[in-house]
Amino acid sequence: MRFSRRTAVAVIGAVALLAPAACGSGGGGGGSSSKNVEVFTWWADGGEKAGLDGLVSVFDTACSGYKFVNGAVAGGAGSNAKQVLASRLQQNQPPDTFQAHAGAELSDYINAGQVEDLSSEYQEWGLNSAFPKGLLDNITVGGKIYSVPANIHRANVVWSNKKVLSDAGITKDPTTMAEFVADLDTLKAKGVATPLALGKDWTQEMLFEAVLISDLGADAFTGLWNGKTDWKSAPVTQGINDYKKLLSYTNKDRDTFDWTDAEKLIMDGKAGFQLMGDWEAADLDAKGFKDYGYFVFPGNATAYQWLADSFVLPKGAKDADGTKCWLKTVGSADGQKAFNTKKGSIPARTDANPADYPTYQQAAMADWKADTAVPSCPHGSACSQGWQGAVNSAQGKFSTDGNVAALQSALAAAAAQYGPKS
Ligand code: GAL
Repeated sequence: MRFSRRTAVAVIGAVALLAPAACGSGGGGGGSSSKNVEVFTWWADGGEKAGLDGLVSVFDTACSGYKFVNGAVAGGAGSNAKQVLASRLQQNQPPDTFQAHAGAELSDYINAGQVEDLSSEYQEWGLNSAFPKGLLDNITVGGKIYSVPANIHRANVVWSNKKVLSDAGITKDPTTMAEFVADLDTLKAKGVATPLALGKDWTQEMLFEAVLISDLGADAFTGLWNGKTDWKSAPVTQGINDYKKLLSYTNKDRDTFDWTDAEKLIMDGKAGFQLMGDWEAADLDAKGFKDYGYFVFPGNATAYQWLADSFVLPKGAKDADGTKCWLKTVGSADGQKAFNTKKGSIPARTDANPADYPTYQQAAMADWKADTAVPSCPHGSACSQGWQGAVNSAQGKFSTDGNVAALQSALAAAAAQYGPKS
């Protein structure tokens, strides 16, 4: 099932060069003088596409001299898009702008010299005061700012099918791991095929991280990524064992599933719960499934596992003015509202009116203000892309062999290779 990076780059690179024309909303006739702005994301469908469409509607009005060209490459968390993008950047064929997660993942592009400094645009557009300081710190390197954040997502949320739960007599949200396991046992005893729906590698890492937040607490969890917590410590072993227990309630075909396949088990009433980021709220809404519940992962209490999608000006972009018009739209109050009301995330700007948002986001906005922020590796706020790759492959292996010691030593080795050097 696995294929080498070299093969992937070769195969996908060829596809990539076709992508804008294939996915574009018209135009794209190949003229280098065209006013097209190719926006590269992995938001191809459902709630993700609905969010992108919202942003495009504001762009169309605010940037009437330019034409949006959809360069989306499908696959949750950028599982395909990031490889396509890497190949295009290597060949000096950047899209006009691309999606990058704030934090360590953005630093990858900054350190490789692939994105431009936007500090003066921040001044011009008043963005320094529009975004919270903590977020600005995450997109600033060496005193310069390299991207415009569109949102804040929360990763550590459990989604449920309310009817499946109530049919099994489950009427209250679990708040501890023990209560969660008791609910999973209840679902199993009632014959629910998949008590806990799960997908492949990066989605498994998300579930594992939620367990670690419960077992280690917010600060020690964050320490795993900044070098202050030892991956070889006993609480991590405990976390792996607890995660292994949860895996026993999941679908056996998880390694072939994207997050939307696992979500479908929830919608079809075949599963009770799924841990997933809050893009799931938007996707369930976009797909018309109304009977869902949600709660913060049991034991995560006030830890808000955050990530932010941001957009950049790539070095060598064909028409920097067109890209800047997109970026200005992304950072604007109107753009953030049109995007986030459909995407399940909350605006990165601090001046939004909660009343404009669906119920889920209103609660998330309040939590974001009050909670402790912790980062996410699969969504780039905690770790670089190299680290992500190592972690994903360790998770994929564990999904097959369940070897606790092997997973712990692979994660410790990944941290030693890619983490901060002490
Ligand atoms: C995340 C991204 C979200 C959402 C999700 C699932 O990495 O930040 O916006 O798209 O992947 O694809």
